[in-house]
Amino acid sequence: MSEGKKTTFITAGRDKKWTNGVVNPPVQRASTVVFDTVAEKNHAILNRAKKTLFYGRRGTNTHFALQDAMIEVEGGAGCALYPCGTAAISNAILAFVETGDHILMVDTCYEPTRDFCDKIMKKMGIETTYFDPTIGEEIRELIQPNTKVLFLESPGSITMEVQDVPTLARIAHEQEIVVMLDNTWAAGVNFSPFDFGVDISIQAATKYIVGHSDVMLGTAVANEKHWDQLREQSYLMGQCVSADDAYLGLRGIRTLDVRLRQHAENSLKVAQWLQTRPEVDHVRHPALTTCPGHEFFQRDFTGGNGLFSVVLKSSYPKATTALLDGMKHFSMGYSWGGYESLILANEPKSFNSLRTVAHPNFTGTLVRLHIGLEDVDDLIADLEQGFARYNALILEKETSY
Ligand SMILES: Cc1ncc(COP(=O)(O)O)c(C=O)c1O
Repeated sequence: MSEGKKTTFITAGRDKKWTNGVVNPPVQRASTVVFDTVAEKNHAILNRAKKTLFYGRRGTNTHFALQDAMIEVEGGAGCALYPCGTAAISNAILAFVETGDHILMVDTCYEPTRDFCDKIMKKMGIETTYFDPTIGEEIRELIQPNTKVLFLESPGSITMEVQDVPTLARIAHEQEIVVMLDNTWAAGVNFSPFDFGVDISIQAATKYIVGHSDVMLGTAVANEKHWDQLREQSYLMGQCVSADDAYLGLRGIRTLDVRLRQHAENSLKVAQWLQTRPEVDHVRHPALTTCPGHEFFQRDFTGGNGLFSVVLKSSYPKATTALLDGMKHFSMGYSWGGYESLILANEPKSFNSLRTVAHPNFTGTLVRLHIGLEDVDDLIADLEQGFARYNALILEKETSY
């Protein structure tokens, strides 16, 4: 009988061979693994890619428990661990391209993903074409004979466009292109990558998997066809993580589902409240119709989280600064996925260097919010006071002409 999803979060990776009979696996720190006999050593060599203790860089029982857990949560055949999400992204791409190849990259990708393509892939003679996140079937026209990787991130970074992943994956597979997805927003939980044609699902586990803003960690879960190549090439690139960090990633998984549901409930309340505000042009929360690609969220996702954006009617940086500077419960930070609320603002012109084809069609300031696990009424009150400071300066601007 297959387990319920909630049960999976509790039991995933908790095999006795990793836990040694206690609830959580011990943190097994190791560089050297020692063997008493030649036969033991030979067994380790033969099975070094199959979760057998061999040498620290190949992982210890703590890492194996996290890898098993990730596969149980996301699906797939194997999980490679990386020191951060950015390492997971760059190493996954690197494992499947060579000089002369071509990458199709969604234009709304995380900024360092774009920089990796423009600065490192380019240097290696690998070209990247950026495409609009809403492209759908027309992706076919951008495929070249040398296209090897289609990289998606859904919803997109900052502007939150949800993509039609199954359609894009189906078309890519007609040409044997490897489909990769930055699945961090769904935390591998609310979007099942392998059911929608993804070959490699990547996460900045730094965000919701860890969930407490205290560890950098990356994961890439691959299907059977791509696992050996991803694993061996990442290994050759020296990708590994500390046993302590793997332990904390695994601990995060235990409360991942319940945290996500609370983040989602809180964020939807804040988003709906923002929709009633006169300062707001529209809210880019995947669960709301005003978010581009909302229909794909409805069709393919099973839940949300705390991260979304709101576009204001005006763009007046002085007023935005007044809004941000006086917040009580929202801090400014270049991350998300922890238990705490965060806020950042982007003026429309800041997208000029971030986008090639999907230039934003709005003129007001975009505010990205990560709604944490605080009392939602406290967060709304904080934003309300922020808007009061904001409005005072907007008024000053309007009356100064
Ligand atoms: C969508 C997304 N992917 C990847 C990353 C990179 O993760 P890390 O900071 O662990 O390198 C981030 C970080 O903010 C992100 O937002």
